[in-house]
Amino acid sequence: MALVNMRDMLNHAYRNGYAVGAFDLVSLDFLDGIITAAERCDAPVILSLAESHFAYFDFDLLMQSVEKAARRSSIPVAIHLDHGATLESAVKSINLGCNGVMVDASHHPLPENIERTKTVVRMAHACGVPVEGELGYVPGVEGEDAERHPGEIAYTTAEEAEHYVRETGVDFLAVSIGTVHGRMQGAPQLDFERLQQINHSLKIPLVIHGGTGLSDDQFRQLIDRGVAKINYYTALADAAGDCIRSNIQCKGGYTALLKGASEAIGKEVERCIRLWGSAGRAREVLESSKPWLPVEHLIIYNVKGIDPQGIEAMMVEGTRVLAAIPGVREVMTGSAIREDAVYRYTWLVRFCDQAVINSYRDHPQHVEFADKFFRPVAGERITIDYQTIEWGSVA
Ligand code: 13P
Repeated sequence: MALVNMRDMLNHAYRNGYAVGAFDLVSLDFLDGIITAAERCDAPVILSLAESHFAYFDFDLLMQSVEKAARRSSIPVAIHLDHGATLESAVKSINLGCNGVMVDASHHPLPENIERTKTVVRMAHACGVPVEGELGYVPGVEGEDAERHPGEIAYTTAEEAEHYVRETGVDFLAVSIGTVHGRMQGAPQLDFERLQQINHSLKIPLVIHGGTGLSDDQFRQLIDRGVAKINYYTALADAAGDCIRSNIQCKGGYTALLKGASEAIGKEVERCIRLWGSAGRAREVLESSKPWLPVEHLIIYNVKGIDPQGIEAMMVEGTRVLAAIPGVREVMTGSAIREDAVYRYTWLVRFCDQAVINSYRDHPQHVEFADKFFRPVAGERITIDYQTIEWGSVA
């Protein structure tokens, strides 16, 4: 069990002058390579899933493995939605297990960026989930040649950053100071003075996108000026790609072609982790971070004035509307097996965090369902919200 609160994780990095790697993953080979390397380095790590990559995998399915890998690992791990485009994708990612989300509205004019970000922050904070906002524009596309998607860099200014953070309440800020997503020809020129000013006025963990292609010295200078999270993908994809190309000569099929790809990814992850100073920090981070544990809301109840078809219809409707509420991981209904059971029915609703107890109770969808469908027919009942306790994973 080492899924931890991402806000605590990044605040520790910010206070102690190092950066946590947020490595985008697109397959189980990436997941394995990243987590194995972080474990080898005894480092905190962020498993990051970019919305722009959702065409390459089934987000829902991959999230199950990502969460399992995080929970069974001994190092502190957070799971992050990278470049979330809409409120809906932020809700979906939280309900699937992300405990950090990024709102990517930086290509909109500032007032619209602020409005869109605010909406996501309100929803995510009500789920206990921290939010990364972006101000300024980092061009390019992860995993591609930057020149194919040039766009104009829009630099972040300290004044706008202060205004944006105050208005939106974001927990971390991605800044644009000269980096570009994807593969670049030549080294990018970074505006360190600008970064220094932003850090001075904000004093919150800063994020750099477009980590691929920066020099060791540039990374050190970024971290010295408040960068606590570095997003990294293209170099990992290239390491895997080189490995697969070198397997082309062999006669084998799928598994033969992929042989070594995960290790190649892990090698590059390890290089970054050691360079960015997060190696050896796992224990400190675990000690200073709240564990990210689900809370369950259980109702055991009887009914009055309703027939079995009516009960079934209520359960179907409840499962549909309640599962869509932000922070709800799962809704399960049940009915007693034994005829002589004292209570006959159950609702089990799994929340991603304790914060959801309140936001769920007051959510209009819950209020409407409870008032219209549940309370009129519910008889005697027992309700409990409890923190789940993990005693170690079963292999
Ligand atoms: P690179 O692909 O340039 O490393 O950037 C990754 C990134 O910023 C993901 O958000």
